[in-house]
Formats: sequence, C-alpha cells, structure tokens
Amino acid sequence: MTKKRAAILGSSGMIGQRFSHMLDGHPYFDVVAYCASDRSEGKRLSDIWKLPDIELNPSLGSKTITVTDAAALAKEGVEVVFSGLPSEVAGPVEDACAEAGLAVYSNASSHRTDPDTPILLPEINPDHLAAIEAQRQRRRKGGYIVTNANCSVTGLALGLKPLVDAFKFTDICVATYQALSGAGYPGVSSLDILGNVLPHIKSEEEKMGSEGRKILGGFSNGRFVDAPISIEASCARVATRDGHLEAVFIHHKDMPDADRIAKTLSEFRGRPQELGLPTAPLKPIIVRREQDRPQPKLDANAGEPARAKGMAVTVGRIRVGKDRLRFYLLVHNTIRGGAGGSVLNAELAYREGLI
Ligand SMILES: NC(=O)c1ccc[n+]([C@@H]2O[C@H](COP(=O)([O-])OP(=O)(O)OC[C@H]3O[C@@H](n4cnc5c(N)ncnc54)[C@H](OP(=O)(O)O)[C@@H]3O)[C@@H](O)[C@H]2O)c1
Repeated sequence: MTKKRAAILGSSGMIGQRFSHMLDGHPYFDVVAYCASDRSEGKRLSDIWKLPDIELNPSLGSKTITVTDAAALAKEGVEVVFSGLPSEVAGPVEDACAEAGLAVYSNASSHRTDPDTPILLPEINPDHLAAIEAQRQRRRKGGYIVTNANCSVTGLALGLKPLVDAFKFTDICVATYQALSGAGYPGVSSLDILGNVLPHIKSEEEKMGSEGRKILGGFSNGRFVDAPISIEASCARVATRDGHLEAVFIHHKDMPDADRIAKTLSEFRGRPQELGLPTAPLKPIIVRREQDRPQPKLDANAGEPARAKGMAVTVGRIRVGKDRLRFYLLVHNTIRGGAGGSVLNAELAYREGLI
C-alpha cells in the first residue's frame, strides 16, 4: 500500500501532540508537515511537548513546526490533513484546505453541523462517509472535511450504540466529570480548578444532544436523519488530567437485566474491527465488574493492540432497577475523543479508497 503524505494542523496543541504520536510510523500515512500558528513557527516538537505519558521519540522531537498554509501544503503533495485547530480558527482554514483538494480530518466543531459533513465514528456510522461525495462535487478540487465528535459525545455514543440497537432506548440522561486536557493548553486557570469542580462547560450540554442524535442517526437520500432519542446532559470540569468519566442514566419500560446489558456492550464490534484498521481497538467497549471502576487514572488508556491504547471505552457499575439503567463510562478525551478518533476515520476512508 502506498503511504499518503499528511500534515498536522495545531501540532503544538493537546490534540496535535496526540496526532504526532499516533501517526508516528503509521502504515497508511506519512506526516511531512507539522503546522501551528506563527507563535510556534521554528520550534521543534521537543520544545513544545507536554504529554507526560509519552516518551518522545528523538526523530519526532527534532521535527520543526511551520506556519499553517493550505496552498503550500497542497504544493508539497500533501493529501491528508489532521486538524487540531481551535474552532474559532478551524472554519476558514479547514475550508481552504478542502478547497485546495485536501482530505481534512478534523477535531474542531466548526463544520460538524454542515449538511454534507459527517460526524464520523466508524464503529457506529461508517455509512455517513458517503456524505463527502456532495462536498467533493461542490469543491473545485475534490477535497472534503470529515469531523469527529466532541470528546464526551464520542464516549457516550459508543456506549449507547449497541444498547439503542438492541433495546430501542430513547430516554437518556448523562452527567460528566471532564478532565482538564479537554480544555486544551494551558486550559483552565489552576486557581479556578484546584480543589474545585466547575459545573459549566460552554456549549457542551447542547452538543451532547445534537451531535449524539446526528451520529446515532441515519444517512439516506443525501441527508442526515437524527436518531429519535433524547439526551439530557449536565457537564462539569474536574481536576483530572485525561479521561472523561460519564454517569449515564436510561429510562425504559421492561429493562433487560444487568448481565444482558453487559454482554451486549462487551460483544459489540463494528466496521473498524471487521477491517482490522491499525488504530481500531480489538474490543471497542470494555466492561469492568469491579465496584470501583472505571477510573480515569486506571482506565483512560484502555485498548489493544498498542496502537489502539486509549481507543476503547470502559463501562462499569452497571445497575438495573425498575424501568431504569445506570452505569459509568470512561473515554480518553484526547485519544478516542480526539486525535485517535480522526486517525480511525482517516484509516476507514483510506481502506474505502476515499483518500
Ligand atoms: N482537548 C480535547 O480533549 C479535545 C477533544 C476533542 C476535540 N477537541 C478540539 O480539538 C481542537 C484542538 O484542541 P486542543 O485541546 O488541542 O487545543 P490547544 O491545546 O489549545 O491547541 C490549539 C492548537 O491550534 C493552534 N492554533 C491556534 N490558533 C491558530 C491559528 N490562528 N493558526 C494556526 N494554528 C493555530 C495552536 O498553535 P500555537 O501553539 O502556535 O498557538 C495549537 O497548536 C479544538 O477545536 C477542540 O475543541 C479537543
């Protein structure tokens, strides 16, 4: 297989650093440009590296950051762009890349609600990739944008998919405990979060509903059709480093027992597992039986093989009452909920011949 030339936008950020690590030695993509703003121009990755859990490989650390320029990337023969840009910047920059003929895999929210842009989560909605055909036609050089969801929605949607399919649940509530890395770098001021919990994250609760319904919905006759479910969310920022914990509550008549719920979740597999994509976790949902799991510290990096570390969602404390199901779910926000989600999306597109 020929490797495709790739670039990382926002390479000095939390998501960008995860991209650099996850794409290092990737079998499908060869990163030839590490881009950010003029604030980082000329710095090496070793100068900006802040991921405590990843030992920086020296050949990666010596890569130099350049200023983001869509036309220059296209000229250098880049075909794929992985974007970790803030949403206030991503809209026009990602559009410029797509207009220059590049395939853009984005973490930003800017294009998630576009009528011909998928919020792709390959285990759930690989068919949504068909939406890019309309983009390729409207853009002069055949480029397109594929987004992944907000980090909390990604975890929730993965946990809901097998349950919604098997038991037709429609009434979902969720409370989140979201890690600091979810706010980017430097993120929340230490004086605001130390010894504290912040009970508001801008636009997060709205996204849980709107993005969740789009991801779990269908794509037919060129249109996205929202899933007929209600998702009510309360989102809080807590002083953990990585990994968003979510307390999920589902109301439903004739609730199946806890063993059936656990079996349905742990047996779930999707298209990435069928195709054996490099970053696909063998088991996308890991069910833990201990009373004190999942925990961000112990479970955020769940997932096998090594390339899929942090790509599995962990579910635990499954409790069933009358007409009611409760469980905890944990997702690594910058891996499965961020860079890893985009990498998996691009791997699917590559295997489908769309890159
Ligand atoms: N963190 C998460 O858990 C998470 C999860 C899912 C999605 N996301 C989304 O992913 C995106 C990145 O998040 P993050 O947490 O990585 O943010 P971050 O740590 O603040 O990083 C932002 C990156 O964008 C670059 N940038 C800023 N302004 C720019 C400009 N005008 N031109 C070019 N580059 C510019 C920054 O470069 P400089 O260093 O040079 O300023 C930096 O590399 C956001 O849209 C966020 O909502 C984040």
